[in-house]
Amino acid sequence: MAVITGGTRGIGLATATLFANEGAYVFVTGRHQKELDEAVASIGKNVTGVQGDVANPDDLDRLYERVKARGGIDILFANVGLGGFVPLGSITEDYYDKMFDTNVKGLLFTVQKALPLLNNGASIILTGSAAAAKGTPGFGVYAASKAAIRSFVRTWTVELKDRHIRSNVLSPGPVSTPQTAIQPPEAIARIVASVPMGRMAEPEEIAKAALFLASDESSFITGIELFADGGRAQV
Ligand SMILES: NC(=O)c1ccc[n+]([C@@H]2O[C@H](COP(=O)([O-])OP(=O)(O)OC[C@H]3O[C@@H](n4cnc5c(N)ncnc54)[C@H](OP(=O)(O)O)[C@@H]3O)[C@@H](O)[C@H]2O)c1
Repeated sequence: MAVITGGTRGIGLATATLFANEGAYVFVTGRHQKELDEAVASIGKNVTGVQGDVANPDDLDRLYERVKARGGIDILFANVGLGGFVPLGSITEDYYDKMFDTNVKGLLFTVQKALPLLNNGASIILTGSAAAAKGTPGFGVYAASKAAIRSFVRTWTVELKDRHIRSNVLSPGPVSTPQTAIQPPEAIARIVASVPMGRMAEPEEIAKAALFLASDESSFITGIELFADGGRAQV
């Protein structure tokens, strides 16, 4: 069984669809009920949607109550993350809190609250970003939040080893998703221009990397950051 936070569009929806097609039972989450219902309908089978905000610990408790009623978790894909471009000098406390509450606190408690339900041998996948390894104008708070995720995984790899739970970061470069579509086009164009492959990824390309980290194909891989970034942070 798999739990995918932020599974109603973009990378999360593509991954939930792939996992369900591969035979996994998938729980998907998102804050908006209508989008959640549409995602569940589009995935079509082997799926339950649970509405909730990962930054709200009570919502996470509600999610895991529903999951527990069905069984243990083999794959946890903590995928929710907000992006935004605000340069140093213009960063507000509200902006910082929103980014870190969702991307860092939300992700941390998504994993911690899942611990009692994770089966031995489970795979935890966290969505990072190639942006954390680069200096991109306006992306400082976002990149720092994703760098925190990369650090979490180093610690969790050793803390969870006795349960044979692997944890890894999956770091995309720019991906064609609704989140990218609402960012300033010139900022996205600058990033795409820095990708050696010269294009954005499709969400399905990131989903295939998530499937690799979720499956036994990656049985000796833990604590890594797997970049699916068209080379952006590699050269
Ligand atoms: N797109 C890119 O270029 C790119 C590149 C590198 C890394 N990433 C990372 O990849 C992940 C997914 O990005 P995406 O582009 O697929 O995003 P997206 O298209 O905006 O989808 C985000 C998903 O997360 C849900 N969500 C957002 N905030 C939430 C919250 N607080 N609680 C629960 N669900 C929430 C959304 O549904 P609701 O709005 O209904 O809650 C939606 O299902 C993020 O961590 C992002 O930082 C993206």
